[in-house]
Amino acid sequence: MMKPNTSLNGHRFIFTCFFFIIFLCILASINQIRFDNILTLSRCTFTHTSNHLLSLSSDDIRVLIGILTLPDHYHKRHFLRLVYGTQSPTGGQVDVKFVFCNLTKEDQQVLVALEIMRYKDIIILNCQENMNKGKTYTYFSSLPEILNDTGEPFPPYHYVMKADDDSYFRLQSLVDSLKPLSRNDLYYGYVIPCPSMDPFVHYMSGMGYLVSWDIVAWIRESDIPRKHLEGPEDRTFGDWIREGHRAKNRYNAKWSMYNYPEPPTRCTHELWPDTVAVHLLKTQEKWITTLKYFNATQDLKPSKLYHIP
Ligand SMILES: *[C@@H]1O[C@H](CO)[C@@H](O)[C@H](O)[C@H]1NC(C)=O
Ligand SMILES: *[C@@H]1O[C@H](CO)[C@@H](O)[C@H](O)[C@H]1NC(C)=O
Ligand SMILES: *[C@@H]1O[C@H](CO)[C@@H](O)[C@H](O)[C@H]1NC(C)=O
Repeated sequence: MMKPNTSLNGHRFIFTCFFFIIFLCILASINQIRFDNILTLSRCTFTHTSNHLLSLSSDDIRVLIGILTLPDHYHKRHFLRLVYGTQSPTGGQVDVKFVFCNLTKEDQQVLVALEIMRYKDIIILNCQENMNKGKTYTYFSSLPEILNDTGEPFPPYHYVMKADDDSYFRLQSLVDSLKPLSRNDLYYGYVIPCPSMDPFVHYMSGMGYLVSWDIVAWIRESDIPRKHLEGPEDRTFGDWIREGHRAKNRYNAKWSMYNYPEPPTRCTHELWPDTVAVHLLKTQEKWITTLKYFNATQDLKPSKLYHIP
């Protein structure tokens, strides 16, 4: 038996890294990237080899946010892509996707197909658009099959959310709030009714709630949701959880999730830094106020190409 030669392996590793960097540099100069960019590139390559490979590992949480919407809501999707495409949380991967039922019109077959080619962020379920007739069930129960890819890590997502298209989620705050929580048997959201702070009594508001992957798998397999499809979707969801004795782990995200302050109700809260989501952004004005408050444009890079006061 030969003992593995660790020092030889170490040298081989360093050589591989070295040639990889050279390769990147050649690639960069072919693409006429300036010298400082090459430096940045090699610096990031070094960080990658030293510690980043380790930190990229299984610790990062994967979250799917499905925004339930309608095929014809092109402008809404365009706007939400701006809102979410400009956020890049660390410590977690958050995929935002738009979810709707079967297309019904010829123009949709062209326009939605183009969107998918460009953005790859649409899920079309096998259903007819409906309110309170099981779209939420179809969404959760279809995911284990839709996302069943043996080449990918399992579970495909640690957490799956259903969100409203008039909610604004701050992805870094969401990831940070999920970090300490269980990845099993979890039900997370804004507890209904508004004044309640007890997540074990009722259900989570449709502004956006999230469950761990094992509950998604349970929704697919269990008879309890399948036999109870009709009714206000989010309350029905809470009924399944109660009847199925699921979600021994619950997290009430109130008051980091709340309704927009105007008009004031028992569900509203003023905008404040400790925010995961703001709901009921029904007008452009409310969106703008919210995006400004949370400094959504602070990472805009200066350039001679534009001037924004
Ligand atoms: C949705 O579309 C698929 C494929 O076009 C079809 O097989 C299915 O029956 C449709 N479902 C509903 C509920 O209309
Ligand atoms: C996922 O794929 C595997 C292998 O193809 C199959 O055995 C399993 O039943 C699939 N699961 C679901 C939920 O579709
Ligand atoms: C937005 O930026 C301002 C100015 O830098 C800062 O004072 C404020 O705390 C920031 N707001 C939030 C919610 O981070």
